[in-house]
Amino acid sequence: MSKSPVFIKEPYVKTSFANDKELDDFIKCSDPIMGYLHFMDNFFYIQHPTRGSMLYHPWDFQKELIDTYHRFRFSISLMARQTGKSTSAAGYLLWYAMFVPDTTILVAAHKYAGAQEIMSRIRYAYENCPEHIKAGVVTYNKGNIDFDNGSRIISATTTENTGRGLSISLLYLDEFAFVRPTIAKEFWTSITPTLATGGKAIITSTPNSDEDQFALIWKGANKTEDEYGNQTELGVNGFRAYKANWRAHPERDEKWAAEMRSQLGDDRFRREMEVEFIIADETLINPAKLIELEGIEPTFRQGQVRWYKKPTKGNIYVIGLDPSLGTGGDPAAIQIFEASSTTQVGEWKHNKTDIPSQIKLIAQITKYIVECTGEPNSIYYSVENNSIGEAALVSLNEYGEHNIQGTMLTESGVKKRKGFTTTNKSKLAACAKLKNLIERERMKLSSKSLISELKTFVASGGSYAAKVGETDDLVLSTLLVIRMIQLLGEYHFELEAQIKDHEEFLAPLPFFAVLG
Ligand SMILES: Nc1ncnc2c1ncn2[C@@H]1O[C@H](COP(=O)(O)OP(=O)(O)OP(=O)(O)O)[C@@H](O)[C@H]1O
Ligand SMILES: [Mg+2]
Repeated sequence: MSKSPVFIKEPYVKTSFANDKELDDFIKCSDPIMGYLHFMDNFFYIQHPTRGSMLYHPWDFQKELIDTYHRFRFSISLMARQTGKSTSAAGYLLWYAMFVPDTTILVAAHKYAGAQEIMSRIRYAYENCPEHIKAGVVTYNKGNIDFDNGSRIISATTTENTGRGLSISLLYLDEFAFVRPTIAKEFWTSITPTLATGGKAIITSTPNSDEDQFALIWKGANKTEDEYGNQTELGVNGFRAYKANWRAHPERDEKWAAEMRSQLGDDRFRREMEVEFIIADETLINPAKLIELEGIEPTFRQGQVRWYKKPTKGNIYVIGLDPSLGTGGDPAAIQIFEASSTTQVGEWKHNKTDIPSQIKLIAQITKYIVECTGEPNSIYYSVENNSIGEAALVSLNEYGEHNIQGTMLTESGVKKRKGFTTTNKSKLAACAKLKNLIERERMKLSSKSLISELKTFVASGGSYAAKVGETDDLVLSTLLVIRMIQLLGEYHFELEAQIKDHEEFLAPLPFFAVLG
């Protein structure tokens, strides 16, 4: 036991309450569901750089943040600089240690100083906490505090070995994106088994590169769409994502932002204040444009087809299928576009739908469009006929083209096969067109999933493809639709005009020079 007994409560002494209010506050703080908020709002003291010692009253976004910490077993928060990440965590961890007995809490930060800073905030809060609320301590050091309820808080720098061998109930990682990538990866690999037995994890950081361990967990936490296109509370990795940029802070405004931006420079401001990841790879679409794309929620669904806009009379509709085996591996995808305005009106993607059912789906989609428009002659559909596509052509034949309303499109060329064949050359040409249409805002993308695929659609060996671990089926089916519209443009003048390149806007593909 260290020697600063003034502020420290002796272990195992009976707490006495001077009045009903004190007892009531203690009971409220002990509540496992809302106790943390009562504690943090009433008894958590912080040191403010200009205002001195003060009570922390969480701002609205901090309420959401600590609610996320508390409600979800695993949470990851992407936050702007100076938004109270470390402070909010310190208060929450102190509450946790004092009111949840027998827990081991590990605080790890990318630097020794960072871990110490959080510990010193925890100590400051503990020392200022009233007697009737605080728990007794057995050990009170710079790096660790042991409470008499069997709980302890330990701090460490994040290294490959941090936490190994400990049985951790709550892990807090501060500024995780700034731990060296190799260390972060190994640390994460070795720490996950210790969490598997029921531990909780809270990760907070401002963003860094879009490929580090923090970014990976963040991306997993944001994959919140189940196979029916519904949103789930948690990402595929079991993490809950929370995000707040500088605007969430009640004491900041545009004037502050303008000053900050000129101080930090544009790139740093975007990363540290707008919380944008740095995209290290060369994406097909300009990153500045990608960030602007938002997408919308489907307006209705038919089975697994997401519709963003009801088909209307007087438009040409184009439906492109990028088929797959449908045995659980690669997904198949269908795009539905209103060609005259290059607007995405519908989308479908699934990896367990067999090829005959994929063809049947095209028939259902075209039937529905006819129901809406009464114009079967304005519908064109097609399939990608490479490799697996051969099987799609067989299925199409069996199903019978006459059973599908609309016209099957086949690219002109020497090959007699129906549909569209993709070669490296045709893919690149379609990529260039897609880039041009999106960057010139001639194309309206609706699907959030398609936009998120575009963010990981990058230059790769003289062409473009999904980054390792990501998918690009929605992009590839969009490329097919573009080729279809180009082909149609030969007959429909208005389509030609819609998708025509404008010389002054024509940006070369990022690796144009390499292709020579
Ligand atoms: N609710 C609050 N009320 C008043 N001040 C607050 C509140 N939350 C945080 N602060 C103050 O805001 C400042 C920044 O807090 P903190 O260091 O926790 O932020 P951070 O997001 O961890 O910052 P950094 O990005 O620099 O690590 C501190 O001075 C802190 O005392
Ligand atoms: Mg901090």
